[in-house]
Amino acid sequence: MSQATPLLELDGLCKTFGGLTVTDQVSFSVMPGEISAIIGPNGAGKTTLFNQITGHLKPDRGRIVFNGQDVAGLPTQKIVAMGMGRAFQVASIFLGESVLDNVRVACLSKLGQTRRPFRPVSEFKRATTRGLEILESLGLAGYAARQAHELAHGDQKLLDIGIALALDPVLLLLDEPTSGMSPEERHLTRDLVHKLWKDFNLTLLFIEHDMDTVFGLAQTVRVLQSGRLLAEGSPDEIRANPEVITAYLGEEVA
Ligand SMILES: Nc1ncnc2c1ncn2[C@@H]1O[C@H](COP(=O)(O)OP(=O)(O)OP(=O)(O)O)[C@@H](O)[C@H]1O
Ligand SMILES: [Mg+2]
Repeated sequence: MSQATPLLELDGLCKTFGGLTVTDQVSFSVMPGEISAIIGPNGAGKTTLFNQITGHLKPDRGRIVFNGQDVAGLPTQKIVAMGMGRAFQVASIFLGESVLDNVRVACLSKLGQTRRPFRPVSEFKRATTRGLEILESLGLAGYAARQAHELAHGDQKLLDIGIALALDPVLLLLDEPTSGMSPEERHLTRDLVHKLWKDFNLTLLFIEHDMDTVFGLAQTVRVLQSGRLLAEGSPDEIRANPEVITAYLGEEVA
């Protein structure tokens, strides 16, 4: 794929819940290798947008072209198999399983082994090795044998990212990676997300309310308000945009 071809392209995406328009003619393109943010007030439709991109919700109208294929309305597992990963606003992990098993199951699924009744032991070994590598990259290897519910909130969010990474995504969507974290944890997570983006050769699209994280990480920032794309630009352009300041950023940035 050439640099000029977007990895993800949304075109006229629309979604309503009853009378409520939550995605209103949203169009934008994400280029391969980009790290970009989606910001906007609570209820702006950010998570709902992710839900449509990852196949958890079917858009009413519009196209979602991922890697050259329209994936709008496709089942999530197909979209994941095409190379899209996602970590959730509330960490989606198996609380009663070990930290390692959380990523190991995803590694096995990536190896295509989950539906085979008889599996060579070597596949488990490969999945274990890969799982431990991923935990290492997240700073969680020391907790591999712990139950996931024993992890602190921030580490549970990282484990959710680990599960997504185990599926080898080219595009990773993160829904509020630093939510619920202390300022210090947010700082560490910001650095970690940047490192993961580089080390795993990702195209990364994240939703975030913490503006230090947004402006510290994103090359491009998109602003949603009431389901509509209010603005798109570089961090400097977004920070200086009067409409964005009025709608969301307020005096924090002004
Ligand atoms: N399944 C659903 N059925 C009906 N309404 C929904 C559903 N999911 C979301 N909504 C509504 O859609 C709107 C957008 O919600 P969404 O969760 O996408 O916002 P958000 O921008 O992610 O907000 P936050 O920053 O608080 O996470 C809200 O008004 C929400 O109540
Ligand atoms: Mg949300």
